[in-house]
This record gives sequence, structure tokens and C-alpha cells, in this order.
Amino acid sequence: MPESSFLETVESRRSIREFLPEAVPQDVLDRAIDAALLAPSSSNLQPWEFVILRSPEARQVAEAACLDQLPAKSAPLLVALVTRRDTWNRNREEILRVFASRGPLRKSQTTYYGKLIPMIYTTGPFGLLGPLKRGVSRLISLFKPTPSLGSRVDLRIMAHKSAALAAATFMLALRAEGYDSCPMEGFDPWRAKALLGLPRGAEVNMFLAIGKRSEKGIWWDRVLMPREWVVREL
Ligand SMILES: Cc1cc2nc3c(=O)[nH]c(=O)nc-3n(C[C@H](O)[C@H](O)[C@H](O)COP(=O)(O)O)c2cc1C
Repeated sequence: MPESSFLETVESRRSIREFLPEAVPQDVLDRAIDAALLAPSSSNLQPWEFVILRSPEARQVAEAACLDQLPAKSAPLLVALVTRRDTWNRNREEILRVFASRGPLRKSQTTYYGKLIPMIYTTGPFGLLGPLKRGVSRLISLFKPTPSLGSRVDLRIMAHKSAALAAATFMLALRAEGYDSCPMEGFDPWRAKALLGLPRGAEVNMFLAIGKRSEKGIWWDRVLMPREWVVREL
């Protein structure tokens, strides 16, 4: 594995629009996924799924869903990163099971994963409980600090935040091994969802085109906003 410093990795990562036709080795992909799975996630619920688009049929549909963007068409490998907020119950049970296998459950663990998480994630029939929970949170926040909990929008945002962190980790891990990527949110979400056979409560966060950059892979030099626009102190 080539060695590079963290900052070299961050600085050399670019969104690559044209790739070399060189396959991504399975071990490189596996290590990058292993790294991505270490990304932080809301309540450690890991509401994500990496779908590797291997079959030529799936690949063809995915390219079209990605609006035939050049990175999608030229990359040797396409991956869809999916948010799975529908897995919260399975995943919190798994967390409790693993905790229990390590020793007696602590009260904080059973309260958090046994009571609080179901309260946050249950949205009731047709999601009707969501707006109610959001309204109650807003009301309580007038008197004491309260998170906005449990509307479908809140839960979607939570899942997309966590998935995006996994995507960033994935792309940096690939870069650390000399591979490149292009994150893409320019896609047709309905066609992408149908292609991947996603249930309600699952959405494509982004597609990731992966490979090695070609000479024409970087379309323009970096443009950064002035630092004072994006950093401030209070
Ligand atoms: C959430 C997200 C969605 C993006 N969608 C696309 C896309 O659909 N197509 C594309 O070519 N680049 C896409 N990009 C890449 C951005 O254009 C790119 O990150 C930005 O121009 C900065 O360039 P750099 O990544 O090379 O530093 C996306 C990036 C992010 C983070």
C-alpha cells in the first residue's frame, strides 16, 4: 500500500471526470469500504448501504440514471451509496446484542437504544407522528434546549449526513491508495431507486464513480471561497 500523509491525501483528492479503463482491484475496494464503515454515524446506527454495480445491465441503467455524466460512463467502477433509515430497528437491536455479548448491559445503553431511539425513529402510520413530535420539540425548546426529533425530514437529514461522512471517508481512503473518485448527486432519484430495488425509507445519497484519473480527468483548477466567507468566530 503506498504511503502518503493525511494532508497529501486530502489535497490530492479531486473530483475526476474522466478515468483510465483500468479495473479497481478488489482488495483496494474492500479496504476503502472497510475505512468508510468506520465513519461516525448518528447514534452509531450506520444507516447506509454500499451497492457495487457489477452487472453490465445494472451498470447501463445506472449510467442513464446518472444522466450519462462522463464520470459515470468512463469510470471502471460505479458504486451507489444508499441511506437506509429503514434499518434503524434492526441496527439498534444489533448494537444491544453486541453490548450484551460483552457484559451486563448498562442502564445508559438500555435507555438510549431501548427507549430513546425508538422514540426518535417511530413516525407512526403515514409518518403522522413526525410533525407532532417536531411540534412538541419546538414547544419544549422555548423553555429548554431540545433537539428537533423524529419528523421524517429530520430522519432523512440525519441519514444523509451520516452517509455523506461515509462517502468522504471512502473517497479519501481510495485516494490514499492512489485511486480516484467523483461523487455525483446529479442523478434521477426515481430511476436510481427502482434500479436498486429500494424500499421506502431508503434513498440514494450519491453515486460514486471510481478508478484512476486520466490526463484529462481534472476539468479545472480548484476554486476556493475566500476564507473569511466560510470561517467565522463568535
Ligand atoms: C454532494 C456532491 C454532489 C456532487 N455531484 C456531482 C455530479 O453530479 N457531477 C459531477 O461531475 N461532480 C459532482 N460533484 C463534485 C463537485 O462538483 C466537486 O466536489 C467540486 O466542484 C469541488 O471539486 P473537487 O472535488 O475536485 O475538489 C459533487 C460533489 C458533492 C460533494
